[in-house]
Amino acid sequence: MNASLRNIVLVGFMGTGKTCVGELLAKRLGMTFVDMDDVIVEREGKPIPQIFAEEGEPYFRSVERELVRELAGRTGQVIGTGGGVVLNADNIRDFGSAGLVVCLTAPPETILERVAHDTNRPLLAGSDKMQKIRGILDARKELYDAIPLRVETDNLTVDEVVQRIVTMYRGD
Ligand code: S3P
Repeated sequence: MNASLRNIVLVGFMGTGKTCVGELLAKRLGMTFVDMDDVIVEREGKPIPQIFAEEGEPYFRSVERELVRELAGRTGQVIGTGGGVVLNADNIRDFGSAGLVVCLTAPPETILERVAHDTNRPLLAGSDKMQKIRGILDARKELYDAIPLRVETDNLTVDEVVQRIVTMYRGD
């Protein structure tokens, strides 16, 4: 596929930098940045924690699934996914045929630092955030590990992460 027609899809656990990296990456490449959670919040008319509380996680996953199908049908986007997009293999299959899928990673300690004061992530709400992070990371490990293109973000600036993805994209 012609590189300019492809999408770049950023997956990875919460707090791995998908949004920060995606915004800058899109700017660099003259592509459109789409944050999946933002689209869902706008369409549902309520924040993510409220969607989880009022409609339940399965409802959120079905909305997320539909949005993946929609975005996979378009081109020229950098897509920042929600961390749980890997839970449905169909999502990764669809994105895999629509563009370059890159997994951002970070150790649990760094993730905790990045999400410590965040109240917008229902799966990490309440106390014992580290235990929650480790539990979910562990449960999803194989799913994230199955993505061949990866960038470990821990000791890199946003700019450096973007550079690495640009190199992957151009060489693709
Ligand atoms: C989720 C990650 C969130 C959001 C929702 C569920 C997850 O997105 O989609 O809270 O299951 O990992 P971010 O990865 O952007 O925080």
